[in-house]
Amino acid sequence: MKSKREIVPLILGLLVVCASAGNKQHPLKSKIPYMELKYCDSKIKNTIKELSGDSSLDYSVYPRSIAKNEKKWNCVRAKREEWCSGFWPGILWYDYENTHDSTILHHAEKYTESLKFISECPAYDHDLGFLIYQSFGNGYRLTHNEAYKKVLLRTADTLATLYNPKVGTILSWPRERKPQNWPHNTIMDNMINLELMFFASQNGGNKRLYDMAVSHAEKTMKNNFRPDYTSYHVAVYDTISGQFIKGVTHQGYSDNSMWARGQAWGIYGFTMVYRYTHDKRFLDFTQRITDAYLKRLPKDYIPYWDFDDPSIPNAPRDASATCIVASGLLELSTYLPYQESRKYRNAALKMIKSLSSRKYESGRRNNSFLLHSTGNKPAGYEIDASIIYADYYYIEALTRLRKMNIR
Ligand code: GLY
Repeated sequence: MKSKREIVPLILGLLVVCASAGNKQHPLKSKIPYMELKYCDSKIKNTIKELSGDSSLDYSVYPRSIAKNEKKWNCVRAKREEWCSGFWPGILWYDYENTHDSTILHHAEKYTESLKFISECPAYDHDLGFLIYQSFGNGYRLTHNEAYKKVLLRTADTLATLYNPKVGTILSWPRERKPQNWPHNTIMDNMINLELMFFASQNGGNKRLYDMAVSHAEKTMKNNFRPDYTSYHVAVYDTISGQFIKGVTHQGYSDNSMWARGQAWGIYGFTMVYRYTHDKRFLDFTQRITDAYLKRLPKDYIPYWDFDDPSIPNAPRDASATCIVASGLLELSTYLPYQESRKYRNAALKMIKSLSSRKYESGRRNNSFLLHSTGNKPAGYEIDASIIYADYYYIEALTRLRKMNIR
């Protein structure tokens, strides 16, 4: 009798083979995301037990990461300087979407509400989007709670205070202007936070947010990428002339390397921009940057933390990049003609298959979903760890897969 751990990769493998062969439908296709979503649900319940300890949950403290070979979540109290607190409520919203479990709904609401104060503060940096959209945005998507929408619209206006019209992008990191001499800096990760502005502009908020988000995406497309479609983490601009000065790195191996998660944010981000704009330039560009990423992946589809780290194959992996890309490619595949769609969907399935294997799932080792993500290698933290945003994009990818009609 094979264990679940052996069966899941087997089934995912079968699915990939059948999809590649062009089979209309595979009888097992619907089981794959369901089995993994069940795994996620049980891990979430274990995490809630772990966080409760002997008392009740403190809803203002959020799980962030589990260090390599450790068992317990490293938790952080919500504050505007802490960028990861939206992911745990986001995970709970996805779990609620998949299970309809009212206890999970209760926890999702409580953890979401504890972030409201951030929407009432001035912007600390672009991460405002991660904090509020992954929590309140998913909450609004599922409940249509008007109070959530108010928070989203208010936060989008706050995010827009970082927009520099001369440059045409958001200032991602106000705190790095002086120490790094990056007078106006725009990072790849910032692409994700355009969703809050698009959402607001189309749901009763300021219509100018749409133009700001489009301009930001256009400038990022022009200046955060090299001619070979690999990305710079940071684009630096002159605040007076608005001119692009240089592309550099912050979390990657070097200024000229391809930091895996940076490229992943781009793939996911430009797919999302196409969803809101229907502008084919963004769709074409997403394909170019995706191809630059796919062609350099290792066999198991999980990148090393930076594609150009000279210590490869001994460098740490970044499973979080895979989760982000897999989720993005599932969406991208819905916008393309059959052949191209199949190419990106199959790549996403291979990624999910690899993530769902014994090598990458945490299993009994800890209460996260996944191992082997890398947060900030140059700064020396969260290396080869379990990280909350990997889990967030994993459950999002599985949820998207469940809702897709694979042919
Ligand atoms: N700041 C987002 C990231 O580390 O990818």
